[in-house]
Amino acid sequence: MTDAPRTIPFSRRSALLTAAAGLTAAAVTTLRGRLAFAAAPASAPGSAAAPTGPFTLPALPYKDDALAPVISAQTIGFHYGKHHKGYVTKLNELVAGTEYAGMTLEQVVAATTGKADKAALFNNAAQIWNHTFYWHSLKPAGAGVVPTGRIKDKLQSSFGGVDEAKKALHQAATGQFGSGWAWLVAAGDKLEVVKTGNAELPAAGKKPLLTIDVWEHAYYLDYQNKRADYVQAVLDKLIDWSFADKNLG
Ligand SMILES: [Fe+2]
Repeated sequence: MTDAPRTIPFSRRSALLTAAAGLTAAAVTTLRGRLAFAAAPASAPGSAAAPTGPFTLPALPYKDDALAPVISAQTIGFHYGKHHKGYVTKLNELVAGTEYAGMTLEQVVAATTGKADKAALFNNAAQIWNHTFYWHSLKPAGAGVVPTGRIKDKLQSSFGGVDEAKKALHQAATGQFGSGWAWLVAAGDKLEVVKTGNAELPAAGKKPLLTIDVWEHAYYLDYQNKRADYVQAVLDKLIDWSFADKNLG
């Protein structure tokens, strides 16, 4: 599970919704290609007893102690090995014997978005996707904390600089009331920072580039109630701008 992080080609929400609604042969083929990521072998720490079912726990892109001391191996053990894995287990239970068992993860997310009677399906499917995206938004040993190339230019033109973009992300992450996510997204030619609650993804037309998990399970063992310290440490020492660059497409 030490393979290099790969881009998660999560399509624009609009394209995702279109694919789910129509499920044309081309769309399904495309989505299956994207799902190659989510279907990675469940061989990472905490995944020894992988749940049976159509959905699997994607491997961590690094060892469970690789983010320490910013994020401890103990936090990874619970966050990845219990919470992320738990969403996979629950989703497999929920889709058993239903039409959703034959869908890709993205299709389940798209088919259940905004449907109150499908909230459990949406929450677990979206949380699987969000967490996988989060793990890949981080890189050990500060290897990705200096943006270069296109993402650097876009951070400059959209926010006025890297520090300003980090401030916007920090503000979103600490300003999210309760559980949720802070996201860097592409909206047309501009980059924006948005926050979402619980399992929600950015709105249609806002393409995720990277994310920070601000559920308490992401930081409480290491930072207790100091979410701001966790977010600042992640931004300064773990965030992977090259992942955002790849997701620009
Ligand atoms: Fe989480």
